Amino acid sequence: MKNMSVILAATCLAAFSIALAPASAAADNAAPSVTYAQDVAPILNANCAECHRPGQVAPMSLLNYKEVRPWAKSIRRAVSERTMPPWLAEAGHQNYSNDLSITVAEIATIVAWVDQGARSGDLSAAPPVPKFRKNSEWRIGTPDHVFTMNPYKVSDTIEDHYEHVTLKSDLTEDRWIKAIELKPGFAEAVHHILVFVAAEGEDPWQQMEKTRLFAKWGPGNNPTTFAPEHGKLLPANAEIMFQVHYHKNPGPGSGGVDESSMAVLYSDEPVKHPVATAWILDPTIRIPAGENNFRSESVFRFIDNGHIYNIAPHMHLRGKAFKYVAEYPDGTEEVLLNLPSWDFNWQFTYDLTEPKFIPRGTKIHAVAWFDNSGDNPFNPDPGIEVTWGDATTDEMMIGFMDYTYVKRKKFQRTVALPEGLAEGHFGGDFGNGDDNGLDGHGSSGGQ
Ligand code: HEC
Repeated sequence: MKNMSVILAATCLAAFSIALAPASAAADNAAPSVTYAQDVAPILNANCAECHRPGQVAPMSLLNYKEVRPWAKSIRRAVSERTMPPWLAEAGHQNYSNDLSITVAEIATIVAWVDQGARSGDLSAAPPVPKFRKNSEWRIGTPDHVFTMNPYKVSDTIEDHYEHVTLKSDLTEDRWIKAIELKPGFAEAVHHILVFVAAEGEDPWQQMEKTRLFAKWGPGNNPTTFAPEHGKLLPANAEIMFQVHYHKNPGPGSGGVDESSMAVLYSDEPVKHPVATAWILDPTIRIPAGENNFRSESVFRFIDNGHIYNIAPHMHLRGKAFKYVAEYPDGTEEVLLNLPSWDFNWQFTYDLTEPKFIPRGTKIHAVAWFDNSGDNPFNPDPGIEVTWGDATTDEMMIGFMDYTYVKRKKFQRTVALPEGLAEGHFGGDFGNGDDNGLDGHGSSGGQ
């Protein structure tokens, strides 16, 4: 398609190129009147500034003409290629409330602006820079409780490093949580955060194996607010473990101190639907050296009517593509998420705008493809077989999914393994899903 539109444009078939390449067509047609102040600033303020401002994940600030102008060409390229704003989901399947992508018309406006010389226009008429939350503020509102991990010193030499930091909650009673927000402390270096919760007397490392994942964060992720009567349980005196993945360019001055934190809102109403996080995973992956299209699939079966709230694939550097497909009891299939082109840097959680009703017996297929060849520019070593492991240079294949059952409170299984793989095969306790039901001391609503 891309090549074709280039050829058509080159042969001056303007009518065709309008249909095939709306961005450049708009540039040709528009009167030379696209300006930063009038047309571009509103787009950048609404879609880019959240990350492109001081102290946030992006490397440069894009809050005013002076900051934006030197980047005009890069911005044109990034929005045309849809590498910015970052968003990996193919359009046309589901609506996601945290969709960051911009419209074809917005892309056309930016392209036209750059092609016309990236002029400022009347800057006194430019919209004011939006008011952002202070770093001390939370998006979920005023938290009932904030858990902050002990400071961890990220040294200048660190490039790629996992740190596990535990803290004890001072909660004296079990609390249901209706909203969770994670905030990286040293935002420039925090690549992702997973928070695991263990009840008193339990070992948080074991809970990690048992997949009691409470919250997760990656760049661009939103806080989680559960629907009314939904929530996760935070047990009294819980042990809270932050797994923080640091990733940065090492060098003098690149280090800092991280005090990442988690804020929660308590639910005042009784929670009827404990939310569980399923891991649809394949720990048996063995990706041959040089293989450019290795496929792996795992299936989660709904044992009762339920809802899915969000989904979040996880792979590392050999990841190539990822898809979730619902196979309904009548045999029809629906794509819940398709990421045709994986990017390790953007580990989004895809929040479905409306909870998705899933009838009993539906199979959720998580399918991952990996590229372990030299064609994958992120591949650190195409010459070795790659298996499951923590390091970025190992691989993972996980389809996370937050779900509930309409009636059932006990989850029979939150870990789905590839067909034919025995329970407990992986890491001892992995797959021992019965342990994760809402029985016993009831601590597992926090999965
Ligand atoms: C979710 C956070 C986020 C949002 C939203 C975002 N960016 Fe970025 N942007 C980044 C980060 C992080 C980088 C550096 C890493 C990279 O290049 O992927 C970056 C890099 C860039 C670059 C330089 C790299 C390149 O591709 O040339 C440009 C230009 C850019 N962004 C433009 C934009 C524009 C324009 C928007 C809005 C239309 C936008 N970004 C929205 C986080 C974001």
